[in-house]
Amino acid sequence: MNYGYFDNTNREYVITRPDVPAPWTNYLGTEKFCTVISHNAGGYSFYNSPEYNRVTKFRPNGTFDRPGHYVYLRDDETGDYWSISWQPVAKSLEEATYEVRHGLSYSKFKCEYNGITAQKTLFVPKGEDAQIWDVKIRNDGDQPRTISAFSFVEFSFSHIQSDNQNHQMSLYSAGTAYNEGVIEYDLYYNTNDYEGFYYLASSFDPDSYDGQRDSFIGMYRDEANPIAIETGRCSNHVQTCYNHCGSLHKQFVIQPGEEVRFVLILGIGKGEGQRLRAKYQDVANVDAALADIRAHWDTRCAKFQVKSPNEGLDTMINAWTLYQAETCVVWSRFASFIEVGGRTGLGYRDTAQDAISVPHANPRMTRKRLVDLLRGQVKEGYGLHLFDPDWFDPEKADVKPSKSPTVVPTPSDEDKIHGIEDTCSDDHLWLVPTICRYVQETGEESFLDETIPYANGGDASVYEHMKAALDFSAEYVGQTGICKGLRADWNDCLNLGGGESAMTSFLHFWALQEFIKLAKYKGLDADVQKYTEMAANVREACEQHLWDEEGGWYIRGLTKNGDKIGTAQQAEGRVHLESNTLAVLSGLASQERGEKAMNAVDDNLFSEYGLHLNSPSFATPNDDIGFVTRVYQGVKENGAIFSHPNPWAWVAEAKLGRGDRAMKFYDALNPYNQNDIIEKRVAEPYSYVQFIMGRDHENHGRANHPWLTGTSGWAYFAVTNFILGVQTGFDGLTVNPCIPTSWPGFEVTREWRGATYHIKVQNPNGVSKGVTAITLNDTPVEGAIPAQPVGSINTVNVIMG
Ligand code: IFM
Repeated sequence: MNYGYFDNTNREYVITRPDVPAPWTNYLGTEKFCTVISHNAGGYSFYNSPEYNRVTKFRPNGTFDRPGHYVYLRDDETGDYWSISWQPVAKSLEEATYEVRHGLSYSKFKCEYNGITAQKTLFVPKGEDAQIWDVKIRNDGDQPRTISAFSFVEFSFSHIQSDNQNHQMSLYSAGTAYNEGVIEYDLYYNTNDYEGFYYLASSFDPDSYDGQRDSFIGMYRDEANPIAIETGRCSNHVQTCYNHCGSLHKQFVIQPGEEVRFVLILGIGKGEGQRLRAKYQDVANVDAALADIRAHWDTRCAKFQVKSPNEGLDTMINAWTLYQAETCVVWSRFASFIEVGGRTGLGYRDTAQDAISVPHANPRMTRKRLVDLLRGQVKEGYGLHLFDPDWFDPEKADVKPSKSPTVVPTPSDEDKIHGIEDTCSDDHLWLVPTICRYVQETGEESFLDETIPYANGGDASVYEHMKAALDFSAEYVGQTGICKGLRADWNDCLNLGGGESAMTSFLHFWALQEFIKLAKYKGLDADVQKYTEMAANVREACEQHLWDEEGGWYIRGLTKNGDKIGTAQQAEGRVHLESNTLAVLSGLASQERGEKAMNAVDDNLFSEYGLHLNSPSFATPNDDIGFVTRVYQGVKENGAIFSHPNPWAWVAEAKLGRGDRAMKFYDALNPYNQNDIIEKRVAEPYSYVQFIMGRDHENHGRANHPWLTGTSGWAYFAVTNFILGVQTGFDGLTVNPCIPTSWPGFEVTREWRGATYHIKVQNPNGVSKGVTAITLNDTPVEGAIPAQPVGSINTVNVIMG
């Protein structure tokens, strides 16, 4: 069963049936103002932080995605009313037709009902801290119609707690005012004219308005049947205290064939409502702002475009996976319909991994995130697992907590840095390959010399920060020389403490390989030698202690008592995805062991929806292994199809040269391929999710937690760099694909350091891997293609065989 389709020409997903089994969301905003919006216009806005600067309310995990950003229409001759989005009024789908187009940073809602076609486009203009609602209402009939339009948002008391816990001060410390077509909302004690000050403005002069939620909706009613809509007029009621909304009402007489258009603006800052109201009276400014958003994504997507025999891969790589990856880089893990803002800080490992995927599309943001992460690293080398980048931003260091809840309090050093007992064993290691990727992509070698402070005092160059990370992992090893597990490794629920993590040692090896390449490129021989020896020690320890001969795979680690986790002898948690994929991805495993390990992954972990994280699931609580043993079987880290490490398997297979297997794994997880089984998947088919219920759960195949997952960044990185094999290195561009034998070839257009490369790969002999000839502008090339002049357009032909 499907509910829509991909419109690749417009880079939109089109929802044709609004009664989707879960809210399907989109992200509006590319800078500081963000709205998470569902296909039914449910959702919320925030500025910078959804925890501290919530503009509108949202009730998470309810059966309805409410409240939202709604436009109601009312036929003033009959009293009949509906909403442009199907919810909240929910007209019968027999009578009304709805279409939603989620595009890149905008969403369009369309409704045809009773001779009226109405559209609402929501987006956040670049350079403004506001959301635009561009509304059009057309009379398709042959008689004039008198139609009232009402907007509705429910303002939030700025801090997430007011939404979650009905914090009583939210009832008594905020109020609304009406000011020339603008409903303004402010906190009584707010000393800030910008943050914590919200508004809803309209381009029209309203006929009536409401600033009080309960006078708009009325008692014993909800958003589906507000009293204001039933009676056809708002109460013109604003006041301090209680719950607040913004509703602006206007009646239009629309002639046959005529279309009326108006704009609503939801934003922050005193006086901003009036300024933007004036600006967007001229709808040419609205059109220009939306065109700007489209151009924003045209530029980003143009950096890498593929045309291959796999339409699902092309659709996802050319738009949706990059879009999702960048959404994660910008908003980390804290703002979705599941995580609704309780955690503003960055997850160290999450951001370090997300950032590896977008240095070509958004180098500025990648760099910013790297600096954030380097400032959140302590001089001992590890990263602060969760932190707010503002704590370490010198420009914000002087901001003292004020009475306003809109300013993020500055914690004490003890609050920020808990020491080794709070440290995750993997966090800091992800930083190393990501910094290498950034420099490879941009060529900004001076970044390595930039001095950046440590979170706990002192400072060092970026290059020295990288060494501190590698040295920490060399030091914090257990009896066998494998990295200690500490609070957790990549798997939050594997809490090994003094036990040892195979995953972290394999990751250490990968980070070392990337660092050694950098040190060689820089000609830093002493470092090449030191870290090559370190890598040799890691390899020896891993090969000696982590290989399970009987199973023919790598184990997951050891408990603090020395018990092995993930052997052929065990009935639970026998085979694990992270250790086996990273053993190969890192280059540590030999071809022979690598093939065996990945065969075990295929045999034990594969399903039609992707690879399970471990199998069979743990069924017996064991605190030496961790919380993973207390999670329901087949759910999350305990035997679900955990999406994030799936791309590690694609990279591993690509490195082994097994393109058919890599594509089999890719296709299984690709949401595009689940568009027609939404009765199973439930979640949106244009976004990777955190996890899909595993075979040990009754809902096997159901997808959970869309959008904010490291899967997107890894999926993008794995496909572009390892399956399609287009890599930018310190000294050139290489093309080394690993594709299915059935592919006759593919084409990629890649922009790199200001030049364009049209790459055509031909596969006349039906191989998976191997390049026999490569030409640049018809001249044969040996090795990497050096960066070509800025502005040049180049042709690269690659023959596989
Ligand atoms: O790796 C973590 C991530 O940091 C947060 N979500 C869950 C993942 C697996 O535990």
